[in-house]
Amino acid sequence: MGGRAVDTRQMMEWSDKHLMTFAKRYPVALVRGDGARVWDSDGKEYLDFTGGIAVTALGHSHPKVVGTMREQAATLLHVSNYFHIPQQIHLAKLLCDHSFADRVFFSNSGAEANETAIKLARKWAKEHGASDRGDIISMRGGFHGRTLATVTATAQEKYHHGFEPLPGGFKYVPFNDLRAVERAIDSHTAAVLVEPIQGEGGVNVPDDGYLPGLRKLCDEAGVLLILDEIQTGMGRTGKLWAYEHAGVTPDIMTLAKALANGVPIGATLATESVAAVFTPGTHGTTFGGNPFATAVGLTVFSTLVEDRLADRADRVGRVLRERLLGVQSRRPKLVKEVRGRGLLVGMDLVPPVGDVVTSCRERGLLVLTAGDNTLRMAPPLIVDEASVERAVEIIERALADGKG
Ligand SMILES: Cc1ncc(COP(=O)(O)O)c(C=O)c1O
Repeated sequence: MGGRAVDTRQMMEWSDKHLMTFAKRYPVALVRGDGARVWDSDGKEYLDFTGGIAVTALGHSHPKVVGTMREQAATLLHVSNYFHIPQQIHLAKLLCDHSFADRVFFSNSGAEANETAIKLARKWAKEHGASDRGDIISMRGGFHGRTLATVTATAQEKYHHGFEPLPGGFKYVPFNDLRAVERAIDSHTAAVLVEPIQGEGGVNVPDDGYLPGLRKLCDEAGVLLILDEIQTGMGRTGKLWAYEHAGVTPDIMTLAKALANGVPIGATLATESVAAVFTPGTHGTTFGGNPFATAVGLTVFSTLVEDRLADRADRVGRVLRERLLGVQSRRPKLVKEVRGRGLLVGMDLVPPVGDVVTSCRERGLLVLTAGDNTLRMAPPLIVDEASVERAVEIIERALADGKG
């Protein structure tokens, strides 16, 4: 029996009864998508400025993605990593050709990509220093995943409660504070882990000197710099990788989300000397890098590059931020700040963000939240300016609703 055989109310009752409650869900079931639009089970249309949380960069039902999925599913879905997988090799080569990296490990999610990065950094530190080097320094307000190690790397206590004992070897410092990192690095430090722009934490953009400063501190101390580009990568911020804005490169970078436009995938990229610490048997995965996920990743990433979608994100993102700044100037009592890069944009609100999200949804626009009271937008990179104008109109009306 498919999802369409029962009505929406029945479906939501079953959802309440049979799913573990890990997220507060909106009273909507999305059933179809096309480009930057989605439809719910009652046929209502929405502009999708969530992109499945910065995942569907090419939009919904992109013909090339659909074509690759059909073809690969009918040819070879899965084989183990005991065999060479041509699609995996091609995607790894493409990612290396377009980044700082020499080698790639594929997994299935962002959390797994970060787990791999942490394991890689610790092994590297032990082989290039002392056996007691293993600490990871991460930033307050950051987000790195929900597995035990990555939730511990996520320096937000609200995600830790109830899951203790947490794994050791993690230290937290404030975001955008180089002095704090300098003080925290010691002989036990293996790596510094940071998002170039904090996504979940509130679309927090650091000062221009922050990433270059971190690079310098890491080099001086002989520790690795791990950039979590799971949300910021793949063109989202107006460059293929957010580190390009800062003119520095990491030792390790993690990717997931938009890399296969919704087909689960994670990737951990590293320089040759760092990657060299993984040898046969040190790490592994059943599904990671399988023919299906990497074939889709190959199509998605090639399309991002060929269609210059990072440039487009830069251009359309400027329009989005400009229009939101217009809203702020008209409604300074409701909007505190607009910030972001490319098509990762946040707007700090005075009224409760949840009310504004609900009002936007009722008016046909889906948006995200982040941080304490930030409205977050991460539309597909193919979104057009007319949709941006429409989205901003809806946001302004939703803000006015709250005021009334
Ligand atoms: C920066 C960052 N890192 C890691 C993750 C975790 O990714 P996943 O949910 O695929 O495990 C997320 C998810 O929101 C993220 O934004």
